[in-house]
Amino acid sequence: MTKFKPTTQTIAMTRRNFLGATAAGAAGLALGFPKPAIAQGAPLKVGLMLPFSGTYAKLGQFIENGFSLYVEQKSGMLGGRKVEFIRLDDESKPETATDNMNRLVSRDKADVVIGTVHSGVAMAMVKVARDTGVPLIIPNAGADEATGPLCAQNIFRTSFSNWQPAHPMGKVVHDDGHRNVVTITWRYTAGQQMVGAFTEGFEAAGGTVVDALTVPFPEVEFQALITRIATLKPDAVFAFFAGGGAVKFVTDYAAAGLKGKIPLYGTGFLTDGTLKAQGDAATGIRTTLHYADDLDIPANKSFLSAFQVKTGEAGDIYAVQGFDAAALLEAGLAATGGDASAREALFGAMAGARIDSPRGPLSFSAAHNPIQNIYLREVRDGRNALVSVAGEAVQDPARGCRMA
Ligand code: PHB
Repeated sequence: MTKFKPTTQTIAMTRRNFLGATAAGAAGLALGFPKPAIAQGAPLKVGLMLPFSGTYAKLGQFIENGFSLYVEQKSGMLGGRKVEFIRLDDESKPETATDNMNRLVSRDKADVVIGTVHSGVAMAMVKVARDTGVPLIIPNAGADEATGPLCAQNIFRTSFSNWQPAHPMGKVVHDDGHRNVVTITWRYTAGQQMVGAFTEGFEAAGGTVVDALTVPFPEVEFQALITRIATLKPDAVFAFFAGGGAVKFVTDYAAAGLKGKIPLYGTGFLTDGTLKAQGDAATGIRTTLHYADDLDIPANKSFLSAFQVKTGEAGDIYAVQGFDAAALLEAGLAATGGDASAREALFGAMAGARIDSPRGPLSFSAAHNPIQNIYLREVRDGRNALVSVAGEAVQDPARGCRMA
């Protein structure tokens, strides 16, 4: 492995950049100046930067619960150190993300940061992580750049790149016999990249995207666009929405009478963690994702029952990604005796980790993005039931990543 080097930037003195300057000091530490050994019994400070309010609130909560479930199963420790959490609600707001991340790193002195859900917020976090060298594990956001042009030794992801679950869906929709498709999503990084990857896969299979509809994030006024879909009468629709927005879109689509007439497809976020609220409106929706509720493997069964006991709720992909973020951190800290500042050894062990995840085998590409199966699922009896494996050990192309 090449020696770990954080990137640095020239910093002008505004308030925001004052925080950045403090962060640059931390980068000095990462460069190998002498650092004190871990104080006896000092807890490991884990910064959790997640949405705890807004349309993605439930996603953030499930990631946190998944992470803390893993820690509880290790008696409250990772790498033999007691874990102390510093929680921060990022509200899925990119405009405050840089300051929030700098607060965790420079003021609160988080040893590692776990976050986040929203791709735009994650982009700001990635930039601070590159400037400061702080270990960052992304437990959801799919921004392709994080393991593409902005990839770095200290940045890992336990979720997916936006390309990953969306690209295989192009062939699935074509194989189901559809040739003309309308896409619909929120107008921001995740939606645009997922629609782009779906379109790439669908066109390569011989299909045509006849219209690409968007609404601003996090708006949920879908009526005009659903009316447009009814007028265009495509063979099928591909959608990316998640959390509260996915509940609203799927129920509006059914209420408009399109369910059963124009088949609805999407990445699995459309129906993951949302089925209780969507009810029968979701039945029959086919999606692709790196998880299915009924994966018949021991790791999934034991995860789902432990999650149920802890929270009283059914686990979902977000909980799995949080659980695996803790497993990945543990794999790194086990190699350093719990020392998160021994970064070269920490990142080397994380990069080589092989995790027996509830989703199936999980390992990491040279760009630190998961290599994982992508499953085709269909909503049946209120569950995302496994139909087939749409892609085995799918690897993101990591376009623009110099480590790949
Ligand atoms: C993202 O912004 O990258 C994102 C958000 C929610 C999801 C998936 C991706 O469910």
